[in-house]
Amino acid sequence: MSANKAPKNHVFYRNQNWHYPKIQKGEGVYLYGEDGKRYLDACSGSAVANIGHGNKEIAEFAKQQIERVAFTHLSRWTVDVIEECAAKVCEWAPGDLNHVYFVSGGSEATETAMKMARQYFIERDGKKSSKWKVISKWDSYHGNTLGALSMTGHPGRRKYYDPMLANFPKIPQFYHYRNPWGCETAEETSIKAAEALETEILRQGADNIAAFITEPVVGSAIPGVHPEKIYFEMVREICNKYDVLLIVDEVMAGFGRTGEKFAVDHFTTVPDIIACAKGMSAGYTPMGATICNDEIFDTIMVKGSGNFVHGHTYASNPLSCGISLKVLEIIERENYLENAKIQGGYFIEKLRELYKYPIIGDVRGKGLMTGLEFVKDQSTKEPFEVSENVKGKFTVNCLAEGIVPYPGGGSADGVRGDDTLLAPPINITREEVDELLAGLERAIAKTCEDVLGANVEA
Ligand SMILES: Cc1ncc(COP(=O)(O)O)c(C=O)c1O
Repeated sequence: MSANKAPKNHVFYRNQNWHYPKIQKGEGVYLYGEDGKRYLDACSGSAVANIGHGNKEIAEFAKQQIERVAFTHLSRWTVDVIEECAAKVCEWAPGDLNHVYFVSGGSEATETAMKMARQYFIERDGKKSSKWKVISKWDSYHGNTLGALSMTGHPGRRKYYDPMLANFPKIPQFYHYRNPWGCETAEETSIKAAEALETEILRQGADNIAAFITEPVVGSAIPGVHPEKIYFEMVREICNKYDVLLIVDEVMAGFGRTGEKFAVDHFTTVPDIIACAKGMSAGYTPMGATICNDEIFDTIMVKGSGNFVHGHTYASNPLSCGISLKVLEIIERENYLENAKIQGGYFIEKLRELYKYPIIGDVRGKGLMTGLEFVKDQSTKEPFEVSENVKGKFTVNCLAEGIVPYPGGGSADGVRGDDTLLAPPINITREEVDELLAGLERAIAKTCEDVLGANVEA
């Protein structure tokens, strides 16, 4: 029986056990409740509101675009803003990722990537091609639609739907803090995690594998976890060796969140396909995209059938493309990538000071995509039991301090393991970072008291 705390109205809220404060407006890094309470959005919703809330320039642009043309169907028309947005996205994308297939969100983007990989091999090798499986990882999240969920390695999100999912192989994540190989350095963990890909390709037979998908910096599954550079070097080489496409899921990490245009740029690797969304439109409109390289585009669209058998009503929506183009122009003009790098570096350095609280097990991240993992015992890394509801208590304590986190669970064994993503807007100022840190620290001290009975000075 649920706690029935959600407002009683006609909305099918996601979680009936949550009481849902009503937000009146957003401005910069802040959200304002109808009771006047101010919240610092420390997670940008879910790494979405990258340029902050209430941007007047976007509002003005959106009005003009709606008046000019808000919707056309991709099957018939093209519009200047669709073409300009695609050109801008390709200017940002690495290597020869020169072709953008617009969708409306992250799950559609990863699902499109998976289908694009499958059609590529059919167009290249004929209908009998057996290359269809996508290797992915445990401790990953690639979306909630059935294809995307088939690639997702998060038991809690899969459990009810398991019988409906495609049987895609899963390998371990580059999760150094809880690595299964007993590695002592992050570099060793990265090497082992990359070797696991080769082992799995050989086990499945390369003829059956179309693609490998990975997040460059992990989002909600184990927030802030990232590999060393060697991981992507090895993975790129393995994919080339076995004729497997490399898909990088930048849905959370892309468009400046980590201080680079795409997070994979930290590792100087060029994937074959990038799936992206969220920060691309910074939440001002639903948006996503699948960006592919020349080889894939030419094989399907130039030398092949010329018809990608896939599509959605809102693909290449002119309003969404126009707004996304504006968002990217603002990020460039205001130098927010550099800000994410600078504030992110400072933020993570300060977050490391939180190890003084006994429930902080791991602090990690790149740029302004960071994560904290909570433990019962720092030396053994023992997680809390789910029944102790640490992430729930932490969230309530953060909200009381006017800080909005993005909590998660399951990082230790798929079920236990409380954590939180911290990913404020990338235009956050130093003063706002300090305000975030102060509220966060008080919330952590209070959570320590709640769960350990330990009175730790904040
Ligand atoms: C890495 C990653 N991939 C895919 C998705 C799915 O995106 P959406 O919720 O827009 O469908 C998410 C959402 O959080 C994500 O973080």
